[in-house]
Amino acid sequence: MSDKTARVVTYGCQQNENDSERIRGMLLEMGYILSDSADADVVIFNTCAVRDNAEKRVYGNIGALKAFKDKKPGMLIGICGCMAQQQHVAQHVKKRFPFVDFVFGTGALHRLPQILYSAEKQRVFDTEMKDGEIVENLPHNRQSTVTATVSVMYGCNNFCTYCVVPHVRGRERSREPGDILREVEGLAAQGCREVTLLGQNVNSYQGIGFPELLERVSKVDGIGRVRFISSHPKDISDALIGTMANNPKICNQLHLPFQAGSNRVLTDMNRRYTREQYLDIIGRVKGKMPDVALTSDIIVGFPTETEEDFAQTLDLVREVEFDMLFTFIYSKRKGTPAEKLPPALTEAQIKANFDRLVAVQNAISLKKNKALESTVQRVLVEGYSKSNESALTGRTEGAKIVNFIGDKSLIGEFAEVRITHAATWSLTGEIV
Ligand code: 5AD
Ligand code: SF4
Repeated sequence: MSDKTARVVTYGCQQNENDSERIRGMLLEMGYILSDSADADVVIFNTCAVRDNAEKRVYGNIGALKAFKDKKPGMLIGICGCMAQQQHVAQHVKKRFPFVDFVFGTGALHRLPQILYSAEKQRVFDTEMKDGEIVENLPHNRQSTVTATVSVMYGCNNFCTYCVVPHVRGRERSREPGDILREVEGLAAQGCREVTLLGQNVNSYQGIGFPELLERVSKVDGIGRVRFISSHPKDISDALIGTMANNPKICNQLHLPFQAGSNRVLTDMNRRYTREQYLDIIGRVKGKMPDVALTSDIIVGFPTETEEDFAQTLDLVREVEFDMLFTFIYSKRKGTPAEKLPPALTEAQIKANFDRLVAVQNAISLKKNKALESTVQRVLVEGYSKSNESALTGRTEGAKIVNFIGDKSLIGEFAEVRITHAATWSLTGEIV
């Protein structure tokens, strides 16, 4: 098996990227050579089900593989992740994509070796969902040595009415602090300087609680920075805000999705906080950390959202002045309560609102980045810049990308960088 190649294609969020790192780790242990080639011997699509466009891309890209498989019949093609966990998708793949050899859900990751072995003989569909399972100690093949993501919990209990995640990732379950710390210690020993703790809602981390977990992770030797995503506003506590403000290793950066600015829409989304409560949290966060970098997720065009409701989203964005936003057009998801709601606005109206929101935010992002010009920022140097191979790239505490000229020996180190130019998405600087 030693010359067989395997390719993993990832869609969606950082949790999926983290799962793909473990899939690659298992493939390496099985003796495969990792490859980006379209006709690798094994191709696995780790999919996302959060929005329809991600699903469409997966179907398109799987379809395109058929030609390769026709030429190379021994090729094995598989689909996993959140799409694969949905029964209607598994059925669709079974019927319409006969050349797909194996399908496995989010709960079957650790069974990959058996699945591949069986798929050599017959098609495998392993999509049964078992709540509450956590499998530790899977091999992990990470891309970067400087920064890493570490899952602290899996699943979601919140059932926002638009969202498929609780249906495909099951109920919340937290990893043991000891397992998390061992993973972080291992990363630090390999040169990792920054960890991002991952969960759908890290603030409902059970047991010792999330603030204490943050404290313990920040104490691991060699770790210089700790970040986390994602948080639910209903679970943000003063203890968390205090921990972030008082511990210099925990980045003053908060990703706090608000989704919609209108209380009526928030109720219809089952978000369980009001606009006023959200703004109150932001006020408390800014009060303790005046330099905090804030980001958020927003959905435009939730079925019950009217023009008046959307105006309140714009209003909130102008008031908070986020550093950056992740903006999404609502996508109807099978099996969610919002699926049944008739849309208040036309597609054209929703698209126009989306464009307005992006324009408003881009101006704010640029303004906030411009304010950093001439300041000196502590940057964790991650590697070479994508756009300019002779430059280095890294991030500020607020997670802003900074490109600057410097020696490659700085990679993996913290550097003091003066910002010389700010754009909407990134900063340019020079070593102090
Ligand atoms: N349509 C559009 N956006 C969605 N999100 C989740 N479900 C949907 C959906 N059905 C967005 C939310 C969430 C982010 C990860 O994806 O904003 O915070
Ligand atoms: Fe989806 Fe809401 Fe859970 Fe986030 S908190 S994963 S939006 S159900």
